[in-house]
Parts: sequence; structure tokens; C-alpha cells
Amino acid sequence: MSSRDTSNTPVDKLTEADAKAELKRLAAEIAEHDKRYYQDDAPKVSDADYDALRLRNNAIEAHFPELIRSDSPTRRVGAAPTGRFAKVRHSVGMLSLDNAFNDEDVTEFVDRIKRFLKLDETPAFTAEPKIDGLSLSLRYEKGELVRGATRGDGFEGEDVTANVRTLKDIPHKLKGRNIPDVCEVRGEVYMTKSEFLELNKRQAEAGDTVFANPRNSAAGSLRMKDASITASRDLHFFAYAWGEMSAMPADTQSGMVGWFAKAGFQTNPMMKVVGDVEALLAFHRDIEQKRASLDYDIDGVVYKVERLDFQQRLGFVSRSPRWAIAHKFAAEKATTIIKEIDIQVGRTGSLTPVAKLEPVSVGGVVVQNATLHNEDEIARKDVRIGDTVTIQRAGDVIPQVLGVVLEKRPKDAKPYQFPTLCPACGSHAVREEGEVVRRCTGGLICPAQQVERLRHFVSRNAFDIEGLGEKQVQAFFADGRIMTPADIFTLKERDKRGEKKLAEIEGYGETSVRNLFNAIDERREIPLNRLIYALGIRHIGETNAKLIARHYATIEAFIAGLEAAGEGPESEAYHELIAIGGIGEVVAEAIVEFFKETRNREAVNALLREIKVLPMEQTVRDSAVAGKTVVFTGSMEKMTREEAKAMAERLGAKVSGSVSKKTDYVVAGADAGSKLKKAAELGVAVLSEDDWIKLAGGA
Ligand code: IVH
Repeated sequence: MSSRDTSNTPVDKLTEADAKAELKRLAAEIAEHDKRYYQDDAPKVSDADYDALRLRNNAIEAHFPELIRSDSPTRRVGAAPTGRFAKVRHSVGMLSLDNAFNDEDVTEFVDRIKRFLKLDETPAFTAEPKIDGLSLSLRYEKGELVRGATRGDGFEGEDVTANVRTLKDIPHKLKGRNIPDVCEVRGEVYMTKSEFLELNKRQAEAGDTVFANPRNSAAGSLRMKDASITASRDLHFFAYAWGEMSAMPADTQSGMVGWFAKAGFQTNPMMKVVGDVEALLAFHRDIEQKRASLDYDIDGVVYKVERLDFQQRLGFVSRSPRWAIAHKFAAEKATTIIKEIDIQVGRTGSLTPVAKLEPVSVGGVVVQNATLHNEDEIARKDVRIGDTVTIQRAGDVIPQVLGVVLEKRPKDAKPYQFPTLCPACGSHAVREEGEVVRRCTGGLICPAQQVERLRHFVSRNAFDIEGLGEKQVQAFFADGRIMTPADIFTLKERDKRGEKKLAEIEGYGETSVRNLFNAIDERREIPLNRLIYALGIRHIGETNAKLIARHYATIEAFIAGLEAAGEGPESEAYHELIAIGGIGEVVAEAIVEFFKETRNREAVNALLREIKVLPMEQTVRDSAVAGKTVVFTGSMEKMTREEAKAMAERLGAKVSGSVSKKTDYVVAGADAGSKLKKAAELGVAVLSEDDWIKLAGGA
């Protein structure tokens, strides 16, 4: 290479020529690693080193947006090379479970075990819910997570290490002492029902594929080529089994699960150890009852022999263990009649068809509505009003229509005509090319969209106003109390003036009115990213909102930037917007369009008169510790470890958990132990807490 090696130079010290050369080198290097990883199944660098390259690339691009290359790795994200993950061979096969469908099957299972082991007494079993997700194997070597793999065919799965690292429930390092050198922890990745519903709503709004149930959406989310999408999907993990272990930390099933919990995993809180068949069956009944109220899908319970020496002796039959069985729940399907098809209008005008059903009990829950997803789905299944249909409580929560029982179709049933006018405002509803969703074009005048936007505005990840739920928003919109976001914040004042007093509404006592006003007042200060998300602009979910907020940092810069970007795609401001890593043209256009609309600008301005928007914390690029790797150890006196870490990150340093040659500083508090020793061995600079504060504070 003709240019000098600047790979260790802090980004803010790079000249433009250096940055240009380095971006070129990084693009080529990352592309080469991608090819080895995705196409040749032969990665050459560790994930951490790969991540470091990408981070370096992103940092340089953020500093020199005008130098972003057309073949930049950040532009290729999402369209990864070959659409497949590297294969991983499981050192111990990932097996499946035999099923029991009724009480007799369970009795037989227990009898079989007693015969096999020649026991008179029933041995102890663990009983736990069977999670309806996908199984995952996590390999730890010397306590560090080195590989995450899907089950695949049981022998060979897919390498999803980068994706699993983004899950909060998966520790990167095992906790505790005496960790065996090799630990393969296995369990289930799942998505909560509430997250699944939210995700589908977002997907439908954006015209993207909706998932049939939480299991599918967990599988789809885990196997994203772009791990940052996985990170945004709120996946969870329960540990319940293991593969290769170089030593066993316990000699019972429940002991192993207890050890997983100590090592930093989530384990299912409902797991029990029970002593006889009756207790197993009682457990099954109890969990089946709780099923609907859990926020994750389960499809049965699993019984496992408690003693591991017994498990060892029992072994396997073909591909399932003799020592475990899945006791399934009854299928949750039913047939009923479609009385009507309702069209719901979403926040961005999407029309969603909902079947209104003759009420029917499905697995213990009365169902009256089922989703029909979209226009094409209705046509594909040829669902008509008056039809008898089979429905399923997919994901336990929103039932879906599986299909029509044609023999029962009334003679006069006509094919369903999807409306081309919005049922809420009468505006045209159109389908853009390539989209599955039909949308109302009424925009700001459509009352259904207005209500949905307000609901979104007050929702949990936006303004999160307690006491302003779906019902209240609807009622307050209908009676004219709250028509725009700003109205929420002027509600108290108007109420005090005696305009339409809330206390006059039935069900509103003095306390509930006061609580509501307090809840609203608590939200008069809001971080910029939440505000951007709350605006409910199409394609601006939480992740994009954060990216945009970080870039502009203040509300003033944000508004000025977007108004200027409205001058056209040639404007400098528009270029600045699409140069934000992760923000593409579709997103940029959506947000620019939003701010071009006078009524939107007025609504935002009116809101800003009522609230204070907090700027985003910026990472300081030219601090003394920017670009340095810092390890904190021992207990600190002037600040908590968390604070110290946050401070370091704010100043642009990277905080690591372990000392290596790459560490720049070890900050040692009281009682620092092995890390201090390691620092001395490697000749890494050691700072006291005060030294650190001086160094960081002097920035
Ligand atoms: S134990 C050797 N426990 O069910 C078998 N599996 O049908 C180890 N599953 O592939 C599995 N919850 O994905 C076990 N509490 C649980 C489970 C569970 C869900 C899944 C797992 C497995 C499948 C077998």
C-alpha cells in the first residue's frame, strides 16, 4: 500500500487523504472477510476483530461523510452476499423430544423408565413449560461466548454468533468461579407475544412481511444477515439443556439449570421438581391454565428425569432421549362463521381487514375477531362473509383464519370486494406498486389516522403517558379535547379554565384527573430520539429515530436540517440526511415529506411550545481518551462502575471487560485483583480513580 498505516490513529486526527485511503482499505478488507464468512464458510478473523473493523469504518464515515464510498460496507448491509450462514457441526447432537398427547402416554413413559432402571419407586422429574421458539446452542470456551448455532438438522446448524451477541439474555461471559473450560449451553430463543404484535404492526405499516406467529418471527429475526436488525427485535432466551461440557457443575437436571442461572442466564421460573405421575399431570393442567396469561408461547410441558446418572443410563432411542418427554397441549383450532369483515385504518393509513366472528371458544379463550392480514390473503383464501372458517390462536393471541370450509359456504356468498375508499374518511385508498398494503390517502384529514397517530404518540416507547390508553385517546378525540399532540399538554390549563371539565366525565374522579395531569407533566421533558419516534412518521421506528437524533443532537438542528432537506435531493441538507449510517432514501424521503407538510410543521411547533426536548448525549471526539480501550477494575469511590463506564463511552473510549495487549488503560479502584496483575504483566498503563478523572475530565 502506498499510503501510511493509520489504523491506530484516532479518527479526528486523520487527514482527509488518510481517511480516504483507510476507507478504501476497510471496504476491501471487510468485503474479503464477508466473502470468507458467508461464501466459503471459512472466516479468517474473530468476530470481535471483524466488529472492530466495521466500527472503525463507521467512525471514519461519521467524521468524513463526504468520503463514503459507493461500495462502503455500511451501504451493503441487509443485502449480504449469498443469503446463507456458515455451517456449524454440533459436537453433541441437538435432539428432539418424543411426544405425549394424553395422561396414558405419560403413565407409560414413567413406567417404561421404571422398568428400564429396575426401580420400584417413581424417580424424581423436573417439569417445565415447553417454549415454542427455536433451539440454540451457545458455546463458551474459558467462560467466553465463542459461537452461537441454530439447531439445523440436529447435527449441523447455522452460525448465528453475531446475532446472538445482541440478545440481552445471552451473557458474553459466564459469571462465577470454576467455570468449565468448555460449556455448551442450550435453550430456546423466543419472542414475547407483545413484541410479536408490535413487530407485526410495524411491519404491516411499512408494507413488509408480517409473521404468522412469535415462533416464526423469532426465527426470522435471529437469522437476519444484519445483526443490528436482530438487536432491534427484542428476542429472549431460556437456558434448559447442554451439549458438550468439559466438567459437570451439578449432578441433577435442576442443579444444572440452577447453575445456568448463576452463570448469568434466564431460566424458566415455573420449573419444578416433582415425585410422581399425579404431580406431573397436575403440573400440565396448571400450566395449561396459565398459558393464555403468559407473555410467550408454549405448546406443552417437558418432563425430564432429575438424576443425571439415570439420564446417562437411559440414553436415547433413535433421536430422542428416553429420559424426557414433551406433554403437548390440545390444538387450539376451532371452526366458526364470519359475520362481517371490518377494515381498520392504521397510523399511516394502512387498511387491515379483520374478520368479525360468531364467538367461539378456542383453547379456553373466547374469540370474536381474527386477522385476515391483507387484501391478497383474502383473495388467496377466497374468504367470504357468511363462510364457515377454521381459525387458530396463532401465537396464543391474535387468532388467524386458516381457511374456508367450502362445503358449508352459503349459496349466495359473494367474493369479497376490498374497499377502494377509506372507511373512516372516504378518501381514495390506493396500493402502490409492489406493495401488499392498501392505504388511505386522506393523511391529516383522516380521523382514523389521527387517532392512531395520537395513540402512537402516547405509547410506551414514545411519550409513555400513563392513563392515556387507547380508550381515552379515542374518547378525547371524539369529544374534541385532544386533536393534536400539543392538546395533550394544554389539557390541564384548559380544564382549569373550566372548559369541558374532565371530572364531569363519568368514571373520572378527582384523583384520576390529578394522576393524569401529573403523568402528562412528567413528560414535558423528552429526549430527542423519543420525540422523533413519537411523531409516527412512516419508516421511522425506534432504531431510525435514534440514528437521526444522534446525528442532529438537538431539536433545533434537527428541524433546521429537515426543512433545508425539503429543498430537494440535490440540497446539501438532503445529502447530510442520507449520509447518516443506516438511513436510506426511503426513510429520508418519508421524513422530508412529513416536514414539507405545513400542518405537520404547525403541529410540531405547537408541541414544542409545550415541552422541552433534551439533546442527545454526544460522544466527544477529541477527548484525551477517545479511541482508547479502558478496563475498570476494583471498587471505585467517587462514582459507580456504571457511571465510570458511561463517562468513558461518552468521551469516545471503548470499555472492555478484560485486559489484553490492546488495552490502553486499566483504571484500578480499591481491591483490584487479577486484572491489575495482568496489566502489570502486559505493561499496560494503570491509573488510579483520581488519575482517570483528571485525564477524562481534562478533555
Ligand atoms: S429439552 C435432548 N426443554 O422442543 C432434548 N426442549 O421437541 C433437549 N423445547 O428442540 C430438549 N422447550 O427446541 C427441552 N423446556 C424445554 C423445551 C424444549 C422447548 C424445544 C427444543 C427442542 C424441541 C424438542
